[in-house]
Amino acid sequence: MTKTAADTHTEITGPTVLVLFGATGGLSAKYLLPALSHLARNGLLGPSFRLVGVSQHPHTDATFGKWAAGASGPDLPRTAKFAHVTADLANDDWGPALAKKIGKRPCRVVYYLATPPSLFEPVAEGLAKARLNRRVGEGTPAIVLEKPFGRDLASARRLNRHLARHFDESQIFRMDHYLGKDTVQNILAFRFENGLFEPVWNRDHIDHVQITVAEDEAVGSRGRYYEEAGALRDVIQSHALQLLAQVAMEPPASWSAKDVRARRVAALRGLKPPTPRQVAERTVSGQYAAGQDLLGKRTAAYREEPHVAARSRTETFVALRAELPNRRWKGVPFYLRTGKRLPKRVAEITVQFKPSSHRVRAHDGGANLLTLRVQPNEGIALRLYLKRPGEPQESLEEVDMSFCYRDAFAGKLPSAYDRLLLDALAGNQGLFTRADEIEASWRFVDPILRHWERQAVRPRPYAGGTWGPAVADKLLKRDGRRWWSDRLDVCPVPGAGQATAHSDG
Ligand code: BG6
Repeated sequence: MTKTAADTHTEITGPTVLVLFGATGGLSAKYLLPALSHLARNGLLGPSFRLVGVSQHPHTDATFGKWAAGASGPDLPRTAKFAHVTADLANDDWGPALAKKIGKRPCRVVYYLATPPSLFEPVAEGLAKARLNRRVGEGTPAIVLEKPFGRDLASARRLNRHLARHFDESQIFRMDHYLGKDTVQNILAFRFENGLFEPVWNRDHIDHVQITVAEDEAVGSRGRYYEEAGALRDVIQSHALQLLAQVAMEPPASWSAKDVRARRVAALRGLKPPTPRQVAERTVSGQYAAGQDLLGKRTAAYREEPHVAARSRTETFVALRAELPNRRWKGVPFYLRTGKRLPKRVAEITVQFKPSSHRVRAHDGGANLLTLRVQPNEGIALRLYLKRPGEPQESLEEVDMSFCYRDAFAGKLPSAYDRLLLDALAGNQGLFTRADEIEASWRFVDPILRHWERQAVRPRPYAGGTWGPAVADKLLKRDGRRWWSDRLDVCPVPGAGQATAHSDG
């Protein structure tokens, strides 16, 4: 296959301006400025890089530069020049001031909206009004939007239409940072570059697929956002479905952004939107109650978190069964699960293969499991059954063959934000979601949201630090299956324990 943007080491060569809307906010300080700093340290930002911050803060160019240096470390100021525009994005006419800061010299301009989603439309509008959505000299400007992109299918469509009025699709970079993770990109290499797995990657050999995106952390200071979002919107619609697309997609004709995106979209389109009855039977929502941390100290319930309603019905946990009734996957369930305040932080995919048809005697589990661990302790493990040495033929032992990133590749995995920022600056769209891709994922999620709302479904409480409500286990148990990520461990760090508790709180 040909080598293209998605796997080429990207570098910025010409002059570039990054305009950061919401420059002094949490996202910027926590992820974007550190990522820019890494890129600067590795000499990847090009010869003339400028960062223009836009925020309500009354910064001058100089004080913004100082603040940004504080948040990012010394490398960025060595490479970049800073400027700042103070503006209330929803109400001020900030376009002309921004145009002045960008200047007239030919350069690539990237607008990064690290703002609440309610500002996406006003900012796009403001840019268009000042004609900043048009070509500046050589380059076509790009606009980068962080998730959440819409809060249901209708609002996502509206936002797509709104953006399309001012920007061409080739200028729009919708970000799902899971696609920026190396381990997520590697799923495609694993599947399509190894002759061993592709022939068995289908309904004839695979029993089912599990996707878990678990977090041990609570909602913390993000109560206000989370009350509006909930786990289904926050993680399932975006990250979990992107993982599903990587597992389910057909092989792309090439690694070009166009071909890979087309396959991702087709995979998501293959998801069958559930009927109300299927939502009732195949989805579980939960909310964490008080629990205990590892030291036995009480942890707060979701309803006790700052900015969360005392009787909130927002779900902090979701488990569901999805189906893709196409030639490859018909009859193979995809079980998805996510939650806050679970026993551990883990994002992984486990593929359970069908048992061998030559089995002489059924044994526990009886199935090979392939686990693709996205984070942490990144790696890939294959569970096999072998004969115990010195024992009779039928005495079997489960053993794991594993590959750990930390052993095979020296150095740290690059951060998703480094990769995505660099790709946006360079104009590589492969790891960003297309308009119809977003809509395809909402088309699956929308009926669930609607059913939950219509039926006023109350999330089931689960004790903090457990694997969610027990009904999430029943979802698999009644199909004769069980969740694996509470039982398997990939590339464990010596000394770190595993939790297996379940609770209805
Ligand atoms: C974000 C969600 O998109 O992803 C958060 O809004 C979640 O709620 C986070 O914690 C998870 O990302 P990661 O990279 O830590 O797995």
